[in-house]
Amino acid sequence: MYRTHTCGELRISQTGNQVTLAGWVQTVRKFGAITFVDLRDRYGITQLLFGEELNKLLEENPLGREYVLQVTGVVTERSNKNPQLPTGDIEITVKEFSILNKSVTPPFTIQDDTDGGEDLRMKYRYLDLRRNAVKKNLELRYAVNRSARNYLHEKGFMDIETPFLIKSTPEGARDFVVPSRMNPGEFYALPQSPQTFKQLLMVSGYDRYYQVVRCFRDEDLRADRQPEFTQIDCEMCFVEQEDILEMFEGLIRQIFKEVKGIDYTAAIERMSWEDAMWQYGNDKPDIRFGMKIANLKFPGYVFPEKSAPLVSWHSGFKVFDDAETVVAVAVPGCSEYSRKQTDELTDWVKRPQIGMLGLAFIKCLPDGSFKSSFDKFFPEDKLKVIADAANAKAGDLVLILAGPEERTRKAISELRLEMGKRLGLRKADEFKLLWVLDFPLFEYDAEENRWVARHHPFTSPRPDDIQTMIGQSPVIGNADKYLEHPYARIKANAYDMVLNGNEIGGGSIRIYQRNLQEKMFAALGMSPEEALRKFGFLLGAFEYGAPPHGGIAFGFDRLCAILGGSESIRDFIAFPKNNSGRDVMLDAPSAIDAKQLEELGLVIGDL
Ligand code: AMO
Repeated sequence: MYRTHTCGELRISQTGNQVTLAGWVQTVRKFGAITFVDLRDRYGITQLLFGEELNKLLEENPLGREYVLQVTGVVTERSNKNPQLPTGDIEITVKEFSILNKSVTPPFTIQDDTDGGEDLRMKYRYLDLRRNAVKKNLELRYAVNRSARNYLHEKGFMDIETPFLIKSTPEGARDFVVPSRMNPGEFYALPQSPQTFKQLLMVSGYDRYYQVVRCFRDEDLRADRQPEFTQIDCEMCFVEQEDILEMFEGLIRQIFKEVKGIDYTAAIERMSWEDAMWQYGNDKPDIRFGMKIANLKFPGYVFPEKSAPLVSWHSGFKVFDDAETVVAVAVPGCSEYSRKQTDELTDWVKRPQIGMLGLAFIKCLPDGSFKSSFDKFFPEDKLKVIADAANAKAGDLVLILAGPEERTRKAISELRLEMGKRLGLRKADEFKLLWVLDFPLFEYDAEENRWVARHHPFTSPRPDDIQTMIGQSPVIGNADKYLEHPYARIKANAYDMVLNGNEIGGGSIRIYQRNLQEKMFAALGMSPEEALRKFGFLLGAFEYGAPPHGGIAFGFDRLCAILGGSESIRDFIAFPKNNSGRDVMLDAPSAIDAKQLEELGLVIGDL
């Protein structure tokens, strides 16, 4: 037997027992004739004491970091206890030891605050995974997985696997493709999600499906995106939007309870997409803090139902007068910002990622007066209108951005998040869930001059919008005025779940009638032949009694990262890829042998 106990389990009540442990050497400390060793395994660390007689043997067989060691000894009460360690009251007085395997010196320290940089740790990910910090993340991931599976199982969902070698499923990214040796010149695509399969399972009558499943998307990577990632993918039949929201609120509440010990009993807020854009400039707002946007000026065709506060824009201040959109946000308690601080913020919004030309501000001074960066053009009473619109109090700093609608709205959203972070309003241990509803069904693709599905082409319009979709031609006469086309106002029967400003899940009620699905493909600019070639299987299935259905998929990696208080999903994936989509440990992707290329009938051209 290699071990009787793990390195995390012995306590003072076991004093006097003879035990055998096996694990990795964390540290070796020599004190004259005795040596202390910290032995580590997945469960913890136990201190070993090598007395005088064993020390000689140790000198002949010196231990190094990460050696695999087996010891037999007696559990002994420690004279200087370590309250930081669960095993800190005891140590093992070693009687016998055996080096099971040696280790070369690891390239970085296997500790929480390691000296290894990200690249080095990824190259030696199998060592990085020994670190407690990473292990804790994987444990959390497993706990979320278990909790989700238990919930779904209890609710009658059935885990059904779907294939990986498929034909393209459009989810808005590029496909990863796999050449077929047996069918030269032909390719499979790896699924961007099991979307069409789960819908086919509904047609087959498996009315509650789920899968914790890998999805593959060839898209630009960010901290919260990986080329292969995992979804908790679900589908149900005979449901309306409300049924789905309720079912999956239950799922997330259970995960909070079981994984974080948090009783998330508060109602989960719901917000329309339009309100999210209007109030936060963002379709996944972080509602842990206020600082809502003041819409001082905006193009009416984007928000036809909204009106702006009464500010006269013919002020002579060209920045505002000429701008399509002027938006502001009040930052609490920052009216005393120095010139240096406002300059720094101006540089921040001018960075290429934000892309603004400048930043205007109003200081709402504690004595009730106002001072602005554009005093020349705006008398104090006008500054007050803006400050009031932004809900600013005395002592606040109102930051104002002006420019084209889309960029400016995005920029104010980023600025709000940045200021929220700087003020400590975005706490990793505070959680706020939100449903965003009523997304537009379509987006306009200026390059291709056509509509594209915002979610995916299988999403149903909201019931009141179905007639608009059927009755109207999708042709866009004037590309500049696409927002005035009736398609721009069609709402999807879709929903996203947002946690702390991150989209953790998204889904929709689906189209289940062949004619509406055909209309959808046509709206996206597909000819009937193309629709048949790409989705004939689904259109065909819809003719054999397809039930009304809908579903959702959670981004499992993202959910874990947020629950673990991290920005990067990589920390929660055992073997992640870097930002260029490389696995630096495997050195993949890589060239393949000429023989393999030949078998596949592939020729690599000039790159
Ligand atoms: P969607 O494309 O919104 O929906 O994906 C669902 C959730 O998956 C997560 N996600 C990602 N996580 C990590 N890396 C990525 N590259 C990545 N892309 C998406 C997000 C997202 O909310 N088939 C539909 C679901 C449905 O309609 O039921 C779908 O895949 O958290």
